[in-house]
Amino acid sequence: MLDTSITAEQVEFFEQNGYLVVPDLLLGSELAEVQREMLALTEYGAAEVRDDPDYAYGTGHVSGDKVLKRVEYVIDKSDAMKALLGHPFVLRSVERLQGADFVPTWDSMVLKLPGEGIIVPWHRDAGVGCVGDTPIFNVDFYLDEADEDTCVWVIPGSNHWSQEQVDEFLAARKDADVTLADFRATGAVPALMMPGDVLFHNILVLHGSPANASSKLRRVVYYEFRSAHVEEALGPHTPDYIPLKQKVLLKCLDHRKTANHILPGEKPFVYSPHPPYDTVRLGSGEELPTYRYAHSDYWRA
Ligand code: NI
Repeated sequence: MLDTSITAEQVEFFEQNGYLVVPDLLLGSELAEVQREMLALTEYGAAEVRDDPDYAYGTGHVSGDKVLKRVEYVIDKSDAMKALLGHPFVLRSVERLQGADFVPTWDSMVLKLPGEGIIVPWHRDAGVGCVGDTPIFNVDFYLDEADEDTCVWVIPGSNHWSQEQVDEFLAARKDADVTLADFRATGAVPALMMPGDVLFHNILVLHGSPANASSKLRRVVYYEFRSAHVEEALGPHTPDYIPLKQKVLLKCLDHRKTANHILPGEKPFVYSPHPPYDTVRLGSGEELPTYRYAHSDYWRA
């Protein structure tokens, strides 16, 4: 399975609906390692409100306290997440959907803590202004089960809606839908997932999740990808962001080759972007100064 990618049928489903579930992509020792390292970040962020911009908190609907909801730049914080970026099935699928000049952009963990999961109101991840001739999407790695209490809800096909349709939906539903019953009543599809399952979601598909008081922890890691030629033309990052993130990708492919928790014999992904995006090289033994290129340092003026 790791030598392949998503199928033509899955590509078509993704293009039509704006999302795609791929079960059982992370297995055994890799799933365990990713879960373990992300539990450490979760516990660090949840122990107290950290004075760190990478840890984001929402207001709990039960206690009114600040509750951890998101951790940014997880690749910089974890070797398991560096190796995960090099996942060959995922990268072949990204290449198939987006073309050979893809670059990694966001890497975040979004979570619902037990007892007080923070609501994520209906939204698109970004507007159409940065979307060119290839889809922009997130690859969402599920570290815990997501059932109806904790899962994300998706409006299939809303990636094709006009801005007017989206604005109308959000005006009616964004503030109104708070509970599980509200989300269910919209007719949205619950993305029911198991640990190790992966959800691809187009940034234009409408999605969200209710607050919940269940005792379940639900963590998802989001890796977003964009085509270099689209990013260069439309942003939101400045063009100098592109080679920096290409180098992060190359280094993470190296990490994967030497990671103890990756099964030997895996056929590595070979990154081969087309010109003019094919000039970035990693020197032998080269270490990167950082894996954390803050988005805010690269916004266009
Ligand atoms: Ni989102």
